[in-house]
Amino acid sequence: MKFTLNKSNGLPVSFRWEKETKDDFEKDLYNRKVFTGKGGEVYPVLYGEHPKIYAGLGKKEEFDLVLLKDLCFNLAKLGKKEGLEALTMDFISYEGICKRRTIRAMVEGFSQIEYKFDRYLKKEDAPSLQNVNFNVPEDKEDILQEGVDEALVLNEAIFHTRDLVNTPAVDMGPTEVSNYAKEVLEPLGVKVTIFDEAKIKELKMEAFLSVAKGSDKEPKFLIMEYYGNPNSDKKIGFVGKGLTYDSGGYCIKPPKGMATMQSDMAGSATVIGAIEAIAKNKLDKNVIGVAALCENMISGKAYHTGDIIGSLSGKTIEVGNTDAEGRITLADSLYYMATEFKPDCIIDLATLTGACIVALGDLASGVVTNNKELLEKVQRAANISDEPIWELPNFKGYKKYIKSEVADIYNTSKIMGAGTITAGLFLENFVEEIPWVHMDIAGTAWLDRQIGSLPKGGTGTHVKTLYHFVKTAKF
Ligand code: BES
Ligand code: ZN
Ligand code: ZN
Repeated sequence: MKFTLNKSNGLPVSFRWEKETKDDFEKDLYNRKVFTGKGGEVYPVLYGEHPKIYAGLGKKEEFDLVLLKDLCFNLAKLGKKEGLEALTMDFISYEGICKRRTIRAMVEGFSQIEYKFDRYLKKEDAPSLQNVNFNVPEDKEDILQEGVDEALVLNEAIFHTRDLVNTPAVDMGPTEVSNYAKEVLEPLGVKVTIFDEAKIKELKMEAFLSVAKGSDKEPKFLIMEYYGNPNSDKKIGFVGKGLTYDSGGYCIKPPKGMATMQSDMAGSATVIGAIEAIAKNKLDKNVIGVAALCENMISGKAYHTGDIIGSLSGKTIEVGNTDAEGRITLADSLYYMATEFKPDCIIDLATLTGACIVALGDLASGVVTNNKELLEKVQRAANISDEPIWELPNFKGYKKYIKSEVADIYNTSKIMGAGTITAGLFLENFVEEIPWVHMDIAGTAWLDRQIGSLPKGGTGTHVKTLYHFVKTAKF
């Protein structure tokens, strides 16, 4: 789909507030309740002298960019259904809302129609809209064009993240994920290093290796370095959970829960997507991303419940549950990031706990932090991105639930509840007191149904959050 400003024509779209009517024809539509201007409503009039599509903005006091994004998605759906090639419309300028953000939301909404995970489908999808034109004030053309371009880069990265997450484990193992990162990121000037099993062993990433050893697929440790400001020694660290499949190991998952566990590498896919967008838009910050990529499987070589394992940090871990494997691989990823790169802050993203889905559902990611100031910044980026996050408490009292009598730390919890918090507090042991935010994306990275413009399956949620966090960082 192409987006133009003040250029080509297409079928006009007329935006209306709820109950707003501009002529007798519109009054009639309103009286017959065919089109009332409710937020998200779209109605085509494809006959007569002035064909057009009406689009409802809802009540002025309830208007926001989420509504506008979803409305644009509905327009795209209608365009596809009616086989329309091009639409043209006035840019929606609303007091108090940044114009660049507004156009990003519109472009994002329209573009969502284009995402389809079709790698395994023979049948080609019907074409969607070819062109969307916005009539914008001439003096704002430059800034709005920048907004369009930025949204398109983000979208592409989000679509790539979704593809990585949606692709089944048989075709997206540690080797494929790391090779993909190399292919996409190296041409953008990102230094990509992939450690193979021998190197991982040499480094003594014993925690990561313990999880990986049940699988026939070789683990890989992926490092991505982007230096957008080589004159500065400030760095932002991103760490992603990279389980390309999580069967649960000997604490095996039930079939239903296991069926979508190729998505357990969504954290690493999000980091890859975010670095792609950051590098493409040449943000002037330094960003490092790492991910420990492996499968959690069952075999004669797999780790057992009850094992006591080492880790890169030297701390020992008692394995109370082989299905709590993400935190074990993250222990080495976080420690490697903290000690090797010494970044100014670390954000990790992980499909870490089912408990997070119980607590927050699929609307918000759960967050645990050791630094409120950093969290505020991440929160701001999440707000700009319309990707909600919600902090869970890190009270000291929770720490006793991950104590072990025989090792330095226990990989699950001694109590039933607070699973997302105890998982987060486990990770805190490996960040070397660097300001850190952990995002549990178990509920938001994968959807079992479409929600608004977000597709079923991999969502790519938080690619935008990470991007805007870097873009707005004050160093
Ligand atoms: N990958 C899962 C968490 C998950 C569950 C992600 C559902 C997405 C959807 C993780 O490795 C896991 O299995 N966690 C366990 C931890 C427990 C054993 C302490 C869980 O949540 O049950
Ligand atoms: Zn698991
Ligand atoms: Zn997992």
